[in-house]
Formats: sequence, C-alpha cells, structure tokens
Amino acid sequence: MAAVQDTKVIISIKSLNKEYVSSDGKVVRALQNINLDIHEGEFISLIGPSGCGKSTLLRLIADLIPPTNGQLTINGHSAHEARENREYGFVFQSATLYDWRTVIKNVQLPLEVMRYSRKERDKRAHEMLKLVELTDFADHFPWQLSGGMQQRVSIARALAFEPNLLLMDEPFGALDEMTRERLNNELLEIWAKIPSMTVIFVTHNISEAVYLSSRVVVMSPRPGRISEIVNIDLPRPRGPETLDSDQYFHLISQVRHLLREVHD
Ligand SMILES: Nc1ncnc2c1ncn2[C@@H]1O[C@H](COP(=O)(O)OP(=O)(O)OP(=O)(O)O)[C@@H](O)[C@H]1O
Ligand SMILES: [Mg+2]
Repeated sequence: MAAVQDTKVIISIKSLNKEYVSSDGKVVRALQNINLDIHEGEFISLIGPSGCGKSTLLRLIADLIPPTNGQLTINGHSAHEARENREYGFVFQSATLYDWRTVIKNVQLPLEVMRYSRKERDKRAHEMLKLVELTDFADHFPWQLSGGMQQRVSIARALAFEPNLLLMDEPFGALDEMTRERLNNELLEIWAKIPSMTVIFVTHNISEAVYLSSRVVVMSPRPGRISEIVNIDLPRPRGPETLDSDQYFHLISQVRHLLREVHD
C-alpha cells in the first residue's frame, strides 16, 4: 500500500458530536469532538470500552443516524449522498438477515438492488458463500442457522458487491477463534485485491485490530472520544510470520496499555 499521506482523504470528520435524547428527555453524549481523516485504501480499526461510541460512529458514517453537529464527508459528499450512491457495504454487530429469504437470496439482495444480471448474482453469491463455508446452506433460511453462521451470511452479503467502503461492526465477535482467524485472512486478501477499498472495522479484540489494520483508533467513554491513534507499520502481506514477530507483540502491548488508561 502507498504511504497514507500520498492517498486521498475518503472520509473527513471534523468536530463531530452526537447526542442521543431518550424518551424521558435524558441526553446521552455518545460522541464528543471527533476529528479523523481516513484515507483511501486504509484499514482502520476502532477499539474501546463498551459504550464509547464505536457503533455510533459507524452509524453516522453510514447515514443511519444524523449527527448532532459537526462535519462528516465521504468522497466529498454528505453521508446521505454516499448512501444514495451505495458507496459502501455494512456488516452490523448482529446479523440482520431477512427471515423470509433463503441464505443465497439474502447474499444476492444488494446485487439485485444494484441490478446485477441473474447469472452474475448467482455466481457472486455462490463465490461468497464458499468463502464463508456455507455452500451447503444456500437454500436454508436464516432461522435454521446458528448465530455465528448467520453472521457469516451477513459478511458474505456485505462483500458480494466489492464495495469501496466496508463498515464492519464486530463482524467476527460471535465466531470461534479458528474461524475468526481464517476470516481475518480472507478479509485481508479481499481488501488487498481492491486497492481503493477502505475498511472501518470495530472490534474488542486487540490482536485482531493490530493484525488487520493500518491504524488503530483507541476510543474512551463518557463522552466517547478518540484518545489515541496507533500506526500499525507491520509489513504486508501479513500472515503466520506476522503473528510470531516481536513488532506485532510490541504493538499489541502498546494498544493494551492505551486501553487500560481509558477503562475506569
Ligand atoms: N438509540 C440510542 N438511544 C440512546 N442512547 C444510545 C442509543 N444508541 C447508543 N446509545 C448510547 O450511546 C453510547 C454509545 O453507544 P454505542 O452503541 O455507540 O457504543 P459501542 O462503543 O458500540 O459499545 P459496544 O462495544 O457495547 O457495542 C452509549 O452510552 C449508549 O448507551
Ligand atoms: Mg457497538
């Protein structure tokens, strides 16, 4: 990957604030004064204690909720325009599949919306199901699958149209360790294949964040803020040798120390 400063800013966030107002009028300051530039082709992880605003930040980028104030642009457009242009794929914290559609039909949904031909839809959806090892479940319904399997369908669906921007909220949280490791590597391969693909990835897993990312954004709670950004200059492609390297261990302990500081 080119040095970050050489690539264009794809997401620009300036003085962004988000407050939620609950039905009893109570105000929750979920995010305070977020400033962050994300460059094209970066792999960014957001990590921090529960409630520090990670999902909120992803939802703001995806235009699922409006900011209270501040600026957020994607490719120079508002988050709303970016959503209308279908510039990104989203994998939510828990799988959000349509119960009345089979697994394969769920994966094909974004491809239908984007008017891929039937042949292309079938081909892509089968490739993606193979990737997440669910080929045998193509004609099952989501409620016939385990939670982890449902999450893998949701990952297959988000990857199906090779989005330029992939927003992933704890996508591998519900998976066993070996499946997580395999999907981490698959994700890196897909990301490397498309140089313009930017990924924003929420996780609670420090080693996963370090292994995948170009930068790890450490957040702190009440109100949610960015407390530190760690550059992960481990060489790519990453693989088994990365996991054994001193540099990898050093970065993990650096992030762990930062997280210890933000936990009360
Ligand atoms: N719809 C909502 N209405 C009111 N408050 C909300 C709403 N969604 C989130 N919050 C509050 O905003 C804060 C940030 O929540 P958010 O879901 O972004 O945290 P998170 O970092 O993703 O946490 P986790 O790691 O547990 O997923 C929390 O205090 C939460 O209670
Ligand atoms: Mg969350």
